[in-house]
Amino acid sequence: MRVFGAPMDLGADRRGVDMGPSAIRYAGLTDELDSLGIDCEDGGNVVVPSPERTEPDAGRPPEGRAKYLGATERVCRDLADEVAGAVADGAVPLVLGGDHSIAIGTVGGAARDRDLGIVWFDAHGDFNTPTTSPSGNVHGMSLAAILGRGSFADSEWADSPTVDAENVAMVGLRDLDDEEREAVRDSEVTAFSMTDVDQRGLPEVTRDAVEVAADGTDGVHVSLDMDFLDPTEAPGVGTPVRGGASYREGHTAMELVSRATGPALASLEIVEVNPILDDHNRTAELAVELAASALGKRIL
Ligand code: ARG
Ligand code: MN
Ligand code: MN
Ligand code: MN
Repeated sequence: MRVFGAPMDLGADRRGVDMGPSAIRYAGLTDELDSLGIDCEDGGNVVVPSPERTEPDAGRPPEGRAKYLGATERVCRDLADEVAGAVADGAVPLVLGGDHSIAIGTVGGAARDRDLGIVWFDAHGDFNTPTTSPSGNVHGMSLAAILGRGSFADSEWADSPTVDAENVAMVGLRDLDDEEREAVRDSEVTAFSMTDVDQRGLPEVTRDAVEVAADGTDGVHVSLDMDFLDPTEAPGVGTPVRGGASYREGHTAMELVSRATGPALASLEIVEVNPILDDHNRTAELAVELAASALGKRIL
């Protein structure tokens, strides 16, 4: 396993999420993974320019708005190279965010030389494009960018990853913008909202999601936005939404991810931890616990 930090905050409105990788390391990530017997090295952080030194309109799309798109693209390309390097060395990459725009880089690298499915645990769809986004924030567009939707079809992004929409499952949705909702409905992705979780239970929904992502692919990438969890458990996120997964459900979902995907868990990322908004680093501590569950830790 090789850990990377992506201290990215260009894709979100609230500062502080750039400290996510430090907060998660401080919460004891590598010790926890060591104690599980996982051979874990820390590959350090990719370099992210500060917003004060970055032109928000550089790399601007032909239509609509996507703030800091040019800089985001550069960071994601670097991250993709690091992640692809880890995969080439036989290591499973674990990327720590940073805002969710970094998924473009993580997946770009993880899926560079193989077909991956994705399970996207999130309150949000991150399915906006520059023309539908109400905020212009790229963290709300990253899944659409990965799938090359809208104007992202023309962007070079990170080596056009081989991810098919029919191998993408979202879990935990409860806050979609109007046009984004239409886009999710019209697409080939499988979307499980909190209504599905309420009615069917998280274990069944997670099993289905993993099946969608694993079907005919070489492995599964898990993208965990910490706002998937309820803000009472994960207050340190930039865009909290009530009604999320409980503490136990978070563990259940990650345990199922590891049980269901086994050796096919191709890569993992944990994003949107913002220690400035947190309560004594508890969101980062939970991120460490959830990483351990996703990587095989069990109570008994
Ligand atoms: N839908 C909103 C937007 O596009 C919020 C996105 C939040 N995304 C996230 N990764 N936290 O601006
Ligand atoms: Mn997200
Ligand atoms: Mn394919
Ligand atoms: Mn989110």
